[in-house]
Amino acid sequence: MHGKQGASHSSGVADSVYSFYSEYPYPLVYPFSKRHEQLMRKFIRMWGLRCESELKGLSILDAGCGTGEKSVYLASLGASVTALDINKTQLSYAQALARRHRVGEKIKFVCADILALDLNDKFDLVLCSGVLHHTPDVRLGFSRLARHLRQDGRILIGLYNKYSRIHYRLLRWALHKAYGNDPKRIMEFVNGFPLSFLLRGKASQQTLYDRYAIPYESYHSLREIREMFRDNNISIMHVSPPILFDNDMISQLSWLIKGKSFFMVSGKRHQ
Ligand SMILES: C[S@@+](CC[C@H](N)C(=O)[O-])C[C@H]1O[C@@H](n2cnc3c(N)ncnc32)[C@H](O)[C@@H]1O
Repeated sequence: MHGKQGASHSSGVADSVYSFYSEYPYPLVYPFSKRHEQLMRKFIRMWGLRCESELKGLSILDAGCGTGEKSVYLASLGASVTALDINKTQLSYAQALARRHRVGEKIKFVCADILALDLNDKFDLVLCSGVLHHTPDVRLGFSRLARHLRQDGRILIGLYNKYSRIHYRLLRWALHKAYGNDPKRIMEFVNGFPLSFLLRGKASQQTLYDRYAIPYESYHSLREIREMFRDNNISIMHVSPPILFDNDMISQLSWLIKGKSFFMVSGKRHQ
């Protein structure tokens, strides 16, 4: 594994998120499950590729790779992947997973902070799913990633939405108010209180930890993301869930009704 790149962006947020993922690795899923494959195919379409075979030979940065499932999937299709995370525990899970699926030699593992990223390398594709909203500065992180794109390179980010995540925001607020930032106490309530099956639904334990117990997350509107893309010379290609009636607010409200609190935006870099 390559060493930690650049000066780490030190803050209470970064430290608490680091400690959280050291104790509760995420997402720990099987990279070739039907559900995960469907998600990965969606990413591939959002990057503007017609099929999986077009990934062969492309360089991909998986920024905030977590336990490595997406990197492993992309490497298994012939891409040359850089799997990057600030957290050494997460990276060690990712490395073990890559070895298990015999793609270890196709993935370069890097321990680095996206907010201070300077890899001296450019990529055809960048993926940053579910990461920037756990950092103290989403705009800074995005601009650092944008600098690592080749001309015509494509980026895909996934973030929590400011409007459609309102229900989880309220639940998180109540849980953190009652139990502080203590994941164990929060999860005792989520798993133990008679009515809290309503909070759990069919979600896995990893997802529940990530949903309720993580010490920090931020929320973002489409408007903010459009500005961020524009400021970094990246034109938007796709938004998922889709935009309705060419109107951001109607779209975000429709996501709220459908329970889609996470949204993804892809774009292509110019000059
Ligand atoms: C919710 S997990 C997402 C994992 C993976 N992207 C996925 O979708 O399965 C968030 C990951 O972002 C990493 N992370 C958080 N802040 C980071 C930063 N500043 N630089 C690099 N990685 C970071 C965490 O360590 C964690 O592994």
